[in-house]
Amino acid sequence: MTDARRPLVAGNWKMNGLTADGVALAKGVAAHAADAAAEVAVCPPFTLIGAIGGAIGSGTVVLGAQDCHTAEKGAHTGDVSAAMLADAGCGMVIVGHSERRTDHGEDDALVRAKAEAVHSHGMTAIVCIGETEAERDGGKTLDVVTGQLAGSLPDGSDAANTVVAYEPVWAIGTGRTPTSGEVQEVHAAIRQALAGRFGNDVANAMRLLYGGSMKPGNARELVALADVDGGLIGGASLKTEDFAAIIDACG
Ligand code: PGA
Repeated sequence: MTDARRPLVAGNWKMNGLTADGVALAKGVAAHAADAAAEVAVCPPFTLIGAIGGAIGSGTVVLGAQDCHTAEKGAHTGDVSAAMLADAGCGMVIVGHSERRTDHGEDDALVRAKAEAVHSHGMTAIVCIGETEAERDGGKTLDVVTGQLAGSLPDGSDAANTVVAYEPVWAIGTGRTPTSGEVQEVHAAIRQALAGRFGNDVANAMRLLYGGSMKPGNARELVALADVDGGLIGGASLKTEDFAAIIDACG
């Protein structure tokens, strides 16, 4: 990472957390984040956004969400719009997580439309991309990842409104991670593709997160890589101690 890019450590709680535990976790994270060099975000489930927003207060931790609908409002039972998330105090929204792509059949065009909705409400989209194990084994990683990047990022993406998270599908929740060399290779390819589309200034300023079994024991090595600017953390973001250790490793 370069000095120009402040590292970001974002916790993706997924479908975990009831009020009491979530509030306690968020308070612990906020206390730790106060002295952190890295920017810290937590993305609780929709049900907890209000409570977690209250628990973290204003300042040290960015409130995020895990998904949004593309439309402003209307007849979309069960969905939540970007306008609603901004109104609830969110500053970031994860879009295109592989679990959304798999569980809900989300494709690049939909992810891009979601990112546009996030941008239009002044929030930052954390756009997730990553290859499956079969794609990696087939030598297709860079093609898949750069293809998803091209399809999922709206025109007008910049370093303020967009963060890219590279999350190999086979590394999520499995305890397995690519080698440092493999991570850096993909991140460098992402940055090169960003430069080709948005120019060097945007590419050099945009933060690229690694995600997939990031934990206290491997965070420091991953974030030391030239093109890794923090992490999107699932399982390890649910324990204050582990998440705090990752925040420190990324600082
Ligand atoms: P994990 O999840 O850290 O539990 O592997 C990361 C993610 O899916 O964002």
